[in-house]
Amino acid sequence: MISGGIVGSRSVTGFFHHSGHLVCDGVALQAIADREGTPLYVYSAATLRERFRALDDAFDGYPHALHYALKANSNLAIGQLLRGLGSCADANSIWEIDVARRMGFEPHQIVFTGVGKSPAELERAVPLGLKAINVESAGELARIEAIAQTLGRPARVAVRINPDIDAKSHPHISTGLKINKFGVPLDAARELFATLHGRPFLKLVAVHVHIGSQITSLDPLTGAARFVAAMATELAAAGMPLEYVDVGGGLGISYDESPVVDTREYVRAVVDAIRPTGLPIVLEPGRSIVGPAGVLLGRVIDLKPRNAVSEFAVIDAGMTELMRPALYNAFHRIEPVIASDDAPTQYEVVGPVCESSDVVGRDRLLRPLAIGDLLAIRDAGAYGAAMSSNYNRRPLPAEVLVDNGTWRVIRRRQSVDDMLALEQALAEAGTR
Ligand code: LLP
Repeated sequence: MISGGIVGSRSVTGFFHHSGHLVCDGVALQAIADREGTPLYVYSAATLRERFRALDDAFDGYPHALHYALKANSNLAIGQLLRGLGSCADANSIWEIDVARRMGFEPHQIVFTGVGKSPAELERAVPLGLKAINVESAGELARIEAIAQTLGRPARVAVRINPDIDAKSHPHISTGLKINKFGVPLDAARELFATLHGRPFLKLVAVHVHIGSQITSLDPLTGAARFVAAMATELAAAGMPLEYVDVGGGLGISYDESPVVDTREYVRAVVDAIRPTGLPIVLEPGRSIVGPAGVLLGRVIDLKPRNAVSEFAVIDAGMTELMRPALYNAFHRIEPVIASDDAPTQYEVVGPVCESSDVVGRDRLLRPLAIGDLLAIRDAGAYGAAMSSNYNRRPLPAEVLVDNGTWRVIRRRQSVDDMLALEQALAEAGTR
């Protein structure tokens, strides 16, 4: 039974039902929400550790580094926890680099990715001596070179090549096709490599591919790994040996409980592809580590008829807290935090935001709901809080980390004062 919010077996981790209550690492979600309010993100530290270690251990001693993609969730506590497990970082802006540094990551543990790095970002990034700046174009490479020349020391760069591989994911998060804005096409990359011999302020340390996110079949991922392996071999033969290869992120998770690529199988395929080069492997995983480690909790704030077969359940969490359903039509499981055996009703679970696209879950069969009931939106740890917004002046939600039977707030709920701290009202007089 649940007592004081904590249930019996501490050895069971993650999100599971115990006596009809949804719990996180043994702590009742209802108890956390009653204390911290909703909308609320809750993360399982045990799941984060398990998922990081599963990926790390799958390399079976093959040299590698996991550069956690901060864009998936860059809460300080989560980054620190992963760093403590041996993670390195993938940052997508100079500000993610700033945050990574505050998490304790050293410059040599950070790769800087991203399709558009501004001159100001490069001015700050090049002197840091990062593990690599993953370059997206000939122009960007030249801009980095110019800064390195002024500093009088070579910049470590990786070239992101667009391999023209279909990730077979949602078009908004597929990046590996020629038509996508990402990376340098193969022919152009070869031309670029040919110029490097005469460019002393550029040190090519790796080639990089990232073909997309939420990839659920092995073939595209293996294809990308074989592609970088072939490039590394070609470059070594041309007298440009690399330090490592960067295979990007992209490993998908199961949002609907249908089978997806197994972590060990994925790592085995990547290692098999890269092993002939003898080079260490860098991965940039985001979703596969944090996605299943988080839920978003929302309360039912209104119920109203929709049509002959279903009702609207309006909850206090929507596209401002979790944009994925509205943006990609993404599916997230939704479940009442307290279950019952009553025959289910069909609901359109919607958020409170003034947009018709603010639908969290369509046609869901849930036990009959009442105002105040708590719902858990599952697998929201990645690209959830990280993509939240203040639209409709909704405050950014609080975040809680459950660890070993206790929990703490790792981001407090934003207040109106927090929100307005950056704004300057007009003086009372003369506002016309
Ligand atoms: N490396 C690079 C260069 C990336 O662009 C990304 C993700 C990753 C690594 C991490 O990929 P992951 O392992 O998480 O799949 N907001 C979207 C996902 C956007 C992914 C952007 N890039 C979503 O909610 O599905």
